[in-house]
Amino acid sequence: MCSHLWQQLFYCMKYLACICHNLKWLCVLFVGETEETFAHWTGSQDWEVYDISNRRIQMERVKVEAVSYSYRTKYQTIQALTDVNCSFEESKMYAVVGESGSGKSTLLSLLAGLDLPASGDILVEGESIRGMNRDHYRRDVVSVVYQAFHLFPLLSALENVSYPMELKGIAKKEARVRAKELIAQVGLADKICKQFPKMMSGGEQQRVAIARALASEGKILLADEPTGNLDSENERNIVEILKGAAHDRGYTVIVITHNPEVAKEADCIYRMRDGHLAREA
Ligand SMILES: Nc1ncnc2c1ncn2[C@@H]1O[C@H](COP(=O)(O)OP(=O)(O)OP(=O)(O)O)[C@@H](O)[C@H]1O
Ligand SMILES: [Mg+2]
Repeated sequence: MCSHLWQQLFYCMKYLACICHNLKWLCVLFVGETEETFAHWTGSQDWEVYDISNRRIQMERVKVEAVSYSYRTKYQTIQALTDVNCSFEESKMYAVVGESGSGKSTLLSLLAGLDLPASGDILVEGESIRGMNRDHYRRDVVSVVYQAFHLFPLLSALENVSYPMELKGIAKKEARVRAKELIAQVGLADKICKQFPKMMSGGEQQRVAIARALASEGKILLADEPTGNLDSENERNIVEILKGAAHDRGYTVIVITHNPEVAKEADCIYRMRDGHLAREA
């Protein structure tokens, strides 16, 4: 009699667990298709959310809220960004396009945590960049390919790429093996490993800079004109690598580009005009 009761209880628990599991799917099906709706409904931001085809719904990683920024020199103030609002999700590649001088690199430098907005805020996974430890942010969360590359001039290509990994505590030998793989992935021959930046062409430096950004494994990858110096074959390879980082590895990739061929590969395009940003597609 007693064991019968326990058996009944066991089955009840099993059904309850099954109902709880399916509730997640029912929520997605009936409550709404956006992650916000689901996250609010459950009261938890930590759950992973799936759609009914079992695809994980992308979450917003970076939110730019009413950001303005100006450069002040002795003689003038240049308003570079005015009331910029945008958001960037995980697993997506974004293109930011616009005329020269419109404010693209300024936005990138704020996203990279190099400076703070004069007004407004940037939220990374819901946390304001203002209160963050920005050394940690720049080392572990964000990786940047600068318009002017900014490779370490006294380090070889291999050392440039392995450096971010060594900073994170990865053993030198392991970091160098991984660095060699990344250098090959961006289409550079092994001989480049020993060369210093001043011994490389612009396109080679650019690809070393991309390999270095990939090495740091920051989930927000910012690239300022990453294909500006490349021939069309290398350009396609780099775009595929950046797209792969977004779609296969969950990175948020933000690419500034003047090249419409690169922009059209993005999941979403923002256009900057005189410091104002608008979503294009
Ligand atoms: N360090 C600086 N000091 C003063 N003004 C600056 C500085 N850097 C940029 N600016 C100005 O801010 C504005 C936006 O510059 P930004 O570099 O963001 O443009 P951009 O869209 O990246 O241009 P490009 O496509 O040529 O790289 C421009 O008017 C530029 O002259
Ligand atoms: Mg620029």
